Amino acid sequence: MAASKAAYSSVSLFHEKLLRSNRILAICGAGLSAASGLPTFRGAGGLWRNHNAVELATPEAFEADPGLVWLFYAYRRHMALEANPNPAHYALAELARKKPGFRCLTQNVDNLHVRAQHPSEQLSLLHGSLFALKCSNAPGCKWTDPYNTADPLCPALAPAAEKNTDPTKPLPLLDPSKPLADIKPDELPHCPECETGLVRPGVVWFGEPLDEGMLDEIDEWIEKEPVDMVLVIGTSSFVYPAAGYAERARTEGRTAVVTVNLELGSAQGRNKIEEGDFGFEGDAAVLLPELLKPVIGEVEAPLE
Ligand code: APR
Repeated sequence: MAASKAAYSSVSLFHEKLLRSNRILAICGAGLSAASGLPTFRGAGGLWRNHNAVELATPEAFEADPGLVWLFYAYRRHMALEANPNPAHYALAELARKKPGFRCLTQNVDNLHVRAQHPSEQLSLLHGSLFALKCSNAPGCKWTDPYNTADPLCPALAPAAEKNTDPTKPLPLLDPSKPLADIKPDELPHCPECETGLVRPGVVWFGEPLDEGMLDEIDEWIEKEPVDMVLVIGTSSFVYPAAGYAERARTEGRTAVVTVNLELGSAQGRNKIEEGDFGFEGDAAVLLPELLKPVIGEVEAPLE
């Protein structure tokens, strides 16, 4: 989306539309968790050591160097475990409780929506979870561990879970001048079922299909009745299918597409701007609780 001159940024007009909306779809991305201290993929923070984070997220990268890819994921698991949901996660979870017609699709794998107690039947984890494990022989081998928070997952991945004793210095793992340990496949966990495959993160990598049952269910939801509002939150809207849902859900003249992004110009992806759309520029963790307040009231983060 180009900088959204055509989109309204009027909070009161947005509130009017929100109060009249029942069927609401949110499409969330990494920017939602930025205020929790987790880096986004594109732009600042998109490099992990000297590697492009997106290039490590492929089955080919895992096949070529599973130790390197596992260190990247072990680090992300560790960071996500150290992080906490922020007010935007809690605001969306409360919106789900207040509006049964609200459905949240997230590209985030950090488990923060779940930890903010977003009702599970109103949440789709499009790209899986960092805390799910599966076998690299999938779909041939069906073994999974749906929720595993071991940190580190195995002794060879301990550098990814190292505490930073000097906060003024980067973590040794992130210091590109320090070589990484060369982790061999036999130092990584193997599938307990087929015993030949390596255990791998239960996330969707580039080039892999998303869960078919989940996609069918989302399609059914979108097609059932017109959608009143689509919230596009903290995503660059580049990666499909997430990037296509705002337009798929739009019924001309009825659906307001609402972009919430730190930089509206960076949410350029595939979204069109139409009459009646909204754009709010800023931190989702600040904006969402304010934007959703007429429905959710003041939301306090519970002590975890
Ligand atoms: N509040 C709101 N938006 C923010 C914030 C913030 N605090 N911080 C950053 N953003 C915005 C950025 O301006 C950017 O538009 O969040 C967006 C993050 O974009 P990406 O890094 O591309 O993340 P995302 O859209 O989730 O990426 C999609 O790509 O790499 C894959 O699988 C990965 O799920 C990911 C997918």
